[in-house]
Amino acid sequence: MAEQMAPSTSKAPRRILVTNALPYANGPIHIGHLLGYIQADIWVRFQRLIGNECHFVCADDAHGTPIMLKAQQLGIAPEVMIEQMNAAHQQDFADFAVSFDNYHSTHSPENKELATLIYKRLRAAGYIHNRVIEQLYDPEKEMFLPDRFVKGTCPDCGAEDQYGDNCDVCGATYSPTDLKNPRSAVSGAVPELRESEHYFFDLPAFGDMLQAWTTSGSLQSEMANKLNEWFEQGLQQWDISRDKPYFGFEIPDAPGKYFYVWLDAPIGYMSSFKNYCEKHGDLEFNDFWNVDSDAEVYHFIGKDIIYFHSLFWPAMLKGADFRQPTSVWAHGFITVNGTKMSKSKGTFIMARTYLEHLDPEYLRYYFATKLSSRIDDLDLNLTDFAQRVNSDLVGKVVNIASRCAGFISKKHAGMLSEHIAEPEMLAEFQAAGESIAAAYEQREFGKAMREIMKLADRANEYIAVQEPWQLAKQEGKEQEVQNVCSMGIHLFRLLMIYLTPVVPKLSADAQLFLNDSFSWESAQITLTGHKINKFKALMQRVPTEKIESMLEASKDSSAANTVPAEQPAAPAAVSSNESAASEFEPIASEIEFDDFAKVDLRVAKIVNAEHVEGADKLIKLTLDIGTEQRQVFAGIKSAYNPADLIGQLTVMVANLKPRKMRFGMSEGMVLAAGPGGKEIYILNPHNGAQPGQRVM
Ligand code: 2FM
Ligand code: ZN
Repeated sequence: MAEQMAPSTSKAPRRILVTNALPYANGPIHIGHLLGYIQADIWVRFQRLIGNECHFVCADDAHGTPIMLKAQQLGIAPEVMIEQMNAAHQQDFADFAVSFDNYHSTHSPENKELATLIYKRLRAAGYIHNRVIEQLYDPEKEMFLPDRFVKGTCPDCGAEDQYGDNCDVCGATYSPTDLKNPRSAVSGAVPELRESEHYFFDLPAFGDMLQAWTTSGSLQSEMANKLNEWFEQGLQQWDISRDKPYFGFEIPDAPGKYFYVWLDAPIGYMSSFKNYCEKHGDLEFNDFWNVDSDAEVYHFIGKDIIYFHSLFWPAMLKGADFRQPTSVWAHGFITVNGTKMSKSKGTFIMARTYLEHLDPEYLRYYFATKLSSRIDDLDLNLTDFAQRVNSDLVGKVVNIASRCAGFISKKHAGMLSEHIAEPEMLAEFQAAGESIAAAYEQREFGKAMREIMKLADRANEYIAVQEPWQLAKQEGKEQEVQNVCSMGIHLFRLLMIYLTPVVPKLSADAQLFLNDSFSWESAQITLTGHKINKFKALMQRVPTEKIESMLEASKDSSAANTVPAEQPAAPAAVSSNESAASEFEPIASEIEFDDFAKVDLRVAKIVNAEHVEGADKLIKLTLDIGTEQRQVFAGIKSAYNPADLIGQLTVMVANLKPRKMRFGMSEGMVLAAGPGGKEIYILNPHNGAQPGQRVM
């Protein structure tokens, strides 16, 4: 049955490790993120399909000030928040078929160990220097302020409410101490200049090594040019420390000093891989990271973080005696319908919102048609998106199978012909695999898709000329019908093999239909005399009304939120129902903004708190909301001592219908979050808040 098997190549499989930039653990995945993950995943799937050993790891980037503050805002421990976010990210990636072998967190024992090791090696080799610097400090919040957490009037154009690093209005860049009327974006306090000792990594010491790495040939030309600009400007000492309070790893022998998030973030690539090796005994961490490693390591990243990956990261690795990445591959940003993703237009589309409306394979294919090895931005034009998917995947590829399969199953019991109707054409389709593979290898996915669609056009032409539906009406043409339709199926199969890295679900369904299992090499086999299964519709046309509803839903969700990186997960309400506080539940079904707006949240002062006799989990709270006092039974006994609660401010749902409980009336609900037990945290508004104030 298997014909024309190509001689198998004797080359040993390459050993490859691929990573993708780690998403921050304080916001959901959106379609802008997905471009990079899908790009990397297509490349990884291609490598596996051609038989290379290709490992793909990622992790959440869990440290830093924004994450610490976001957790405080939510009234939960950062550890709890990052765990929830990690689970949500993994679900989004899995649903977009991003085939990570391991997904970890930078807040992990492996990462702490490796960050410490790398730092100690750098220090021992003389690459770490200390220096006292001046920085803005929030006296109320008692913390140093990152540039983005200072706001004030632009020193150049006078625009108000600008961030401490650059002005959105005139584009000027400056340091936060240049701002006029600066204030802390965290507390509103006027920041003061304070001194603190910081730790610096000696990046300039790696100038020669980085120049050599840049010209080693495997970097994108745009990236090499960018690096040359930076070399010309001169490399700077890099501040790798932050003062407490900070969510991260403490620097060895430096109490109160923490590694800056960008120090341990890329180490997260190594530590996720280490964690993966620990789970898979046959993999050796050192084989991939030692200086003499012959494995390949590639980092897929967005163009905004080239500096970190092409200067700091290789230099850190070199200084700590690890191998450097084989290459770092940057991609551009996406626009939607020609403009920056926008919340008001509904084009700031979360991964989850997309999934609730459309098939993820549509997006994977569309991105593939537009991706190249360059760092260009890419427009997701939603009209073009629907047309491209409908015309290519549905109209050209799937259509071949649907035109041929019926005759094979109905008239020939599912058996493909023993004969190949057009051997030359088949050989051309098989030979095309070589240039398609080269395009995949070079990340020229758009080129690969164009080649595949050209073949699809030829396959459709063949069927249109042969008209098996006409042949089927003629007496004695049964064999011809079987031959023509089998030929169509063979061509469809080759197209699907070539498309496998891009649309893995469609490919898996095609393999079921064909009763086959694909590898790249299996394109050289032909399924003559092979039994296939009954054809079921493999892909629907893009439902355009769903695009509309997705945009509408994106508008709704953004109305209640700020930028995605700052989106709080909704705090779970602690019901006065005794069992409710024990665990996290999946996110409930979506509600309209208007429904949410009905909830009247008020700042409440806890004027009294006491145990409830006979209740295991409840504390009876007396809450002052300015105009009146309320009695609320809250299921927080496992986490709080009543006496400690008295005098605290919290947030309550003030318009919840009173409920009669076994112990008395409960006239509202307080907001809290956490996994349960000792880890339940009531929301604590800022001390300046007044009882009765409405909470937005
Ligand atoms: O820019 C970002 O979203 C970072 N979280 C990327 C980190 S990539 C790596 F260095 F960890
Ligand atoms: Zn300005």
